[in-house]
Amino acid sequence: MYASKDEQYLYKQAKTLLEKTSANAEDAIQQLRDVINYADWKYYVQSEPVLADVEYDTLFKKLKHLEEQYPEQVTADSPTQRVAMGLSEKFPAVSHLVPMLSLDNTYNAEDLLDWDRKCRELAGVDTIEYCVEPKYDGASISLVYEDGILKRGATRGDGVMGEEITTNIKQIRSLPLSVATKKSGITQIEIRGEVVIHKDVFAAYNAQRAAEGLAPLANPRNAASGTLRILDPKEVSKRKLSAILYHISYYTQEQGHKLPEALQTHYGSLQWLYQLGFPTPAKEMKVFRHIDEVIKFCDEFEQHRDDLPFEVDGLVIKVNSFELQDRMGMTSHHPRWAVAYKFKARQATSKLRKVEFQVGRTGSVTPVAKIDPVPIGGVTVTSISLFNEDVVREKDLHIGDTVLVERAGDVIPYIVKPLAELRTGEEEKIVFPTHCPVCNEPLERPEEEAVWRCINISCPAQVVERIIHFASKDAMDIRSMGDANVRKFYELGLLKDIPGIYHIDWDEVRKLGGFGEKSVTNLQTAIENSKQQPLNRVIYGLGIRHVGETMAKTLANAVSHIKDLYDWDEEKLVSLEDVGPKVAATVAHFFHTHENRHMLDMLEASGVNLANQKKNTPQTEGGLSGKTFLFTGTLNRFKRSEAEEMVEEKGGAILGGVSSKLNYLVVGEDAGSKLEKAKKLGTVAILTEDEFLDLIKGS
Ligand code: IVH
Repeated sequence: MYASKDEQYLYKQAKTLLEKTSANAEDAIQQLRDVINYADWKYYVQSEPVLADVEYDTLFKKLKHLEEQYPEQVTADSPTQRVAMGLSEKFPAVSHLVPMLSLDNTYNAEDLLDWDRKCRELAGVDTIEYCVEPKYDGASISLVYEDGILKRGATRGDGVMGEEITTNIKQIRSLPLSVATKKSGITQIEIRGEVVIHKDVFAAYNAQRAAEGLAPLANPRNAASGTLRILDPKEVSKRKLSAILYHISYYTQEQGHKLPEALQTHYGSLQWLYQLGFPTPAKEMKVFRHIDEVIKFCDEFEQHRDDLPFEVDGLVIKVNSFELQDRMGMTSHHPRWAVAYKFKARQATSKLRKVEFQVGRTGSVTPVAKIDPVPIGGVTVTSISLFNEDVVREKDLHIGDTVLVERAGDVIPYIVKPLAELRTGEEEKIVFPTHCPVCNEPLERPEEEAVWRCINISCPAQVVERIIHFASKDAMDIRSMGDANVRKFYELGLLKDIPGIYHIDWDEVRKLGGFGEKSVTNLQTAIENSKQQPLNRVIYGLGIRHVGETMAKTLANAVSHIKDLYDWDEEKLVSLEDVGPKVAATVAHFFHTHENRHMLDMLEASGVNLANQKKNTPQTEGGLSGKTFLFTGTLNRFKRSEAEEMVEEKGGAILGGVSSKLNYLVVGEDAGSKLEKAKKLGTVAILTEDEFLDLIKGS
């Protein structure tokens, strides 16, 4: 959407505006909007941030401040208008300009050959050019822009009428609020697409829910469509939705304008939209002249379906020429010029045989369904968490039910529903225990919570789970320890609690079968190394309720030493970003409890780092202070997260993309566009993995 000349200008303009804004408010407002829109496009559509977060926030605040002073200057497409104030009461119904149709499905090469034959017959031609693009698994939306301004966003609804969700749509930062369609005389345009959630964002969101004791959302698709219907736009904004647009369903053009040439083919139309600043599959889509090539591509693509950042459930094949599309027309259900090629289902049915109850590290008792083994998406599923009693009741599950199981991508498997029509009458109710299945103490279900808990903190199940969590990869990363060893050591009395990890009697371990000298040494080294883990990992490892990895970082960054938290009351904790009253209460309670303080004393005495080393080492001492890094390609010498930690430890920063702010690009195997871009810029030092390690050593 921006020529490179404009980009340079806007980047410079952003830097100037950080220093001073124009004396004329109207000009200043326009300039600020231009650079903010540009920064949003770079960040959300191109994944190449050009401004640091603080710089962006400063510009945003300046714009907001000016608009408050000059309210008559506020327009619907100002970036400030993404941030909605009030809650919606409900979503009004709107009719789509053109009905939103579905797609016909194909599942194999034969179906595709059939479809191609029908297409050629209908169009009356021998060969057809096809365009192939991913089929995104999210919630479909329809957007209307008038005179270049986003006027309306709607859900699909029944295809004819949808729900008007404009305010929520504006929370999707990759969608432009205004575009330069007027240049082509286009006065009104309706565009279709899919709202999706990045798999990473989804996983992080579910991890946070789990830390809060909430049932995770089933899959990114449900998360996206559920989020679009949340009545509080601020909450929608937090969920970081993305969108991809794949179809122009309608437009009107003023007389006297020529139609952009691109608008003769589907391929051209999505490239044109991309140029205007819309997120489209412009980079992923492919054009083929023969169905055999389409089939080959479908096959290959399916092997790599998990490489995309979003969930895809197939590919969509579309006749490229709009003229041919018009000739072929639609049925009342789907266009005849497009078809979905569905990937192998990640759903299967199985029998629910029994439900077991597992006690977690916070005492929560989780029902786990044991089903007949069934392969789904390359793994055999036998066990599925049912999260809590409410989920079991809502789904009306019974022992003996045939259940529909889904496993999407990296997402954990879950039971979609029982197939009630297959019941024989022999199915049995699922009975929840009244006492802990491990220590036999009575269970409690605190008010407003969905889980039953064993409140005996010495319950062996909880103690073992707490040790496992402390040693886990994302906490202290004592890899060779593993769940099985923790359980074994605990059962044998070699390990009683978390500090006990640092006092294991190795002579006793050596006497156990299966522990050679090498595995003992490995374990000892891993335990020794864990003593130097940064404070956020220790805090995360303590397994405080509601404290996930992000919250642990927030807490660690706020103090110089973990014991500083002894003096923090709930009021002070709530002043931290994203800390609400619930988190504050559990954190304060944890650090005020005598047993926990004693445990921290023991850890400290064993040499475990409990200080925030970043805070205690002035940034300037880090040899890479002020330097920025980015990693690209497949790294063989170290993991990306490890390398990023090394940079941050030395005071350097990691950037999200190649820009003039980047100092070093570290390239692994098969580096692609980032490397090209860095070379073009000419200001970025390009390092191999070894050169990077040398730099770290030397700094
Ligand atoms: S084209 C007339 N393209 O799949 C245009 N749909 O199962 C019809 N979908 O309702 C839609 N990715 O919500 C199209 N690249 C893509 C798509 C796509 C996902 C969704 C869309 C549609 C559903 C049909």
